[in-house]
Amino acid sequence: MNKKTVLTILEKKRLKNKITMLTCYDYVTAKLVSSQDIDVILVGDSLGNVKLGYENTLPVTVEDMIYHTESVKRGNNGALLITDMPFMSYEITVEDAVKNAAKIIKEGGAEAVKVEGGIEIVDKIRAISNAKIPVVGHLGLTPQAINKIGGFKVQGRTEDKCSKLISDAKAIEEAGVFAVVLEAIPEQLAKEVTHCLKVPTIGIGAGRYCDGQVLVIDDMLGMFDDFTPKFVKRYADLSNIIKTAVKNYIDEVRAGKFPQEGNVYK
Ligand code: KIV
Repeated sequence: MNKKTVLTILEKKRLKNKITMLTCYDYVTAKLVSSQDIDVILVGDSLGNVKLGYENTLPVTVEDMIYHTESVKRGNNGALLITDMPFMSYEITVEDAVKNAAKIIKEGGAEAVKVEGGIEIVDKIRAISNAKIPVVGHLGLTPQAINKIGGFKVQGRTEDKCSKLISDAKAIEEAGVFAVVLEAIPEQLAKEVTHCLKVPTIGIGAGRYCDGQVLVIDDMLGMFDDFTPKFVKRYADLSNIIKTAVKNYIDEVRAGKFPQEGNVYK
């Protein structure tokens, strides 16, 4: 598989080729996903919700992100590997931000990091980027700000909020991000941001005009059904496939039908 890099992603915007991104948190899934020529794998801090069972992403640590990145790295064949910087690993000081980004790259093996926020974190973005670490931004619904924004709601619905989001996008581009994730914003606003920026936008619940799309793998495979946002398309129904397989196994063991002759050592 051709190795995808930051340059591949930038080139895709220039050529108007859509960028494909999915989250992954483990070796097996990364192996399956990268076998299909995906452009980018994101080790998202959504792992807090879908893998660790937290109510939100706030408890996720740098160590959690490194542990899962290492596992994904071993399964990845060719995709650009980006890892989220978790809540409070980059907000406090520029030094913390660079140190934690470097830890994720050196120990986890990620090739880039993603941070949530706009103008208020441009100093951190600039410092991480100056330290030779590629950075992706994340605007709109930023789950690490859940307590401030008061829930998982569509963002950028008023004129003020639209202008703020556009200014944030321009500011983080100027600070050095090489792509921007846009989450849960109206399609027209995402279109405008995509038009304004030289770097690609990657949408999740941001409509059809972004330069690429990202989904949480557990949502699109129908594995995680605690809550399914409107923007998710389910490409499979793995939770029912798993439940049926587990039920069949239990029934067969109880009925003495498994193991059979072919499953035993002579
Ligand atoms: O944590 C995550 O999975 C993300 C995606 C939703 C973009 O940030």
